[in-house]
Amino acid sequence: MSRIAYVNGRYVRHADAAVSIDDRAFLFADGIYEVIEIFGGRLIDEAGHLERLVRSARELRLALPVGDGALRVIIRELVARNRVASGHVYLQVTRGSARRDHAFPKPGTPSTLVAFAHSADHEAAEARARKGIKVISLPDIRWKRPDIKSTSLLPNVLAKQQAKEAGAYEAWLVDDQGFVTEGSSSNAWIVDSRGVLITRRADSSILRGITRMRLFEVVKAGNGAIEERAFTLAEAKAAREAFITGATTLVMPVVALDGEKIGDGAPGPISLALRKAFHDFAPASY
Ligand code: PDD
Repeated sequence: MSRIAYVNGRYVRHADAAVSIDDRAFLFADGIYEVIEIFGGRLIDEAGHLERLVRSARELRLALPVGDGALRVIIRELVARNRVASGHVYLQVTRGSARRDHAFPKPGTPSTLVAFAHSADHEAAEARARKGIKVISLPDIRWKRPDIKSTSLLPNVLAKQQAKEAGAYEAWLVDDQGFVTEGSSSNAWIVDSRGVLITRRADSSILRGITRMRLFEVVKAGNGAIEERAFTLAEAKAAREAFITGATTLVMPVVALDGEKIGDGAPGPISLALRKAFHDFAPASY
């Protein structure tokens, strides 16, 4: 079965899917995106992701080419046509295609909408969670608006590659004051000696993760406490547990930071319990 993608109103074979070399995302990374988890054939927290897409578009003065209803139809078509039971949907909107000029194209230039769905190895992810991941720290060299889910991801790409080359799975980015902002493609959390969860406040310095927001409910339901504040690397290294959250990782335990063990060097019970509970709380739609 060949994979099917969506490009500007048409469903096409993934291998044939293409946009113009004049596309603003190709020339300027002038685009936004979302990644939605598919679990048990259902879309996890679709509304939250689509709301954030609308917000990203507004912040960048980018027009979405179709409305919420049409987006939901496209997403379902892709899940069905690609028969994805466990995986992700990727949506990207760009400022369209126009002769290269930094300023916006002339009004009325249609935005580009591309979407695809792919399967993910659920068992491999569970095995990774049982083992836990290693993280390295790097300076956060991104622009001042990481709260916008833009396709301008060069610092994130470089950080992730550096992590990979160091034998780690993720890089935690550190601001000029020495506080962790977030991961290259995930939010960062620690659990202190009292069992309190600590994660940075979602201001403009991090992406307001949908998984992060949902986890607040999971923690609350278990009578757990969360402190929304920045933490340092030293605090993280002394933490009882640490983990990351994101649509592609869910709750993923962190067992080492810069080569130093977190806790006893094994996934912590709170992290694992939150991972287990996550799908019971996240709204899932067919
Ligand atoms: N990344 N922070 C950053 C920088 C991210 O790129 C992501 C997600 C998150 C977590 O957000 P959410 O819980 O809404 O997925 C935080 C996606 C998965 C990606 O780029 O592939």
